[in-house]
Amino acid sequence: MPCPSLLEFCNRNRLGLTVSLLDILYYPDSQLRRNAAPVDNVDGKMVSLIDQMLETMYAAPGIGLAATQVNIHQRVVVIDVSEENDTPMTFINPEILLSEGVGEMQEGCLSIPGVYETVKRSEQIKVAAIDREGNPFELEADGLLSVCIQHEIDHLNGKLFVDYLSPLKRNRIRKRLERWIRDGADLDELPDRP
Ligand code: NI
Repeated sequence: MPCPSLLEFCNRNRLGLTVSLLDILYYPDSQLRRNAAPVDNVDGKMVSLIDQMLETMYAAPGIGLAATQVNIHQRVVVIDVSEENDTPMTFINPEILLSEGVGEMQEGCLSIPGVYETVKRSEQIKVAAIDREGNPFELEADGLLSVCIQHEIDHLNGKLFVDYLSPLKRNRIRKRLERWIRDGADLDELPDRP
């Protein structure tokens, strides 16, 4: 995602741990449109999913990842918007309690590589979620973190940032990514860059 673009904040792996990385789905994969199910138990399996998601996000590199993007349809999001990549956050069953104002930011997405577009979202939010230890918490966020949380919750609802763009633009992005997936071409060398 944004600022200059959310993707560009993480450029190195944070932990020295060996964790296998998860495969990220790319737009327009229909699995990205699924509505994720609530998590009812934060058990060891969930913790290892969270850790794998974090490693996958840092390696990508990205600053947010929803379970939907790794084809796991449970309501789990990981985020780290810190410049040092040292502040991992986990949001299980996240819910936005309050939102205020309107802001614009350039967004990107690990499932839509090479595409950055300005999206309008709420400026400030209050979110409730469960953390990696299974404890409920509430958090107020603005700026990049607010945008990132809203973007990732959208993923859990099968929504992508390109859905906020015009159908014409979205169609161009879809075609470009389909060619990239089909031909394995270098994204930067494909024409019709949106
Ligand atoms: Ni995304």
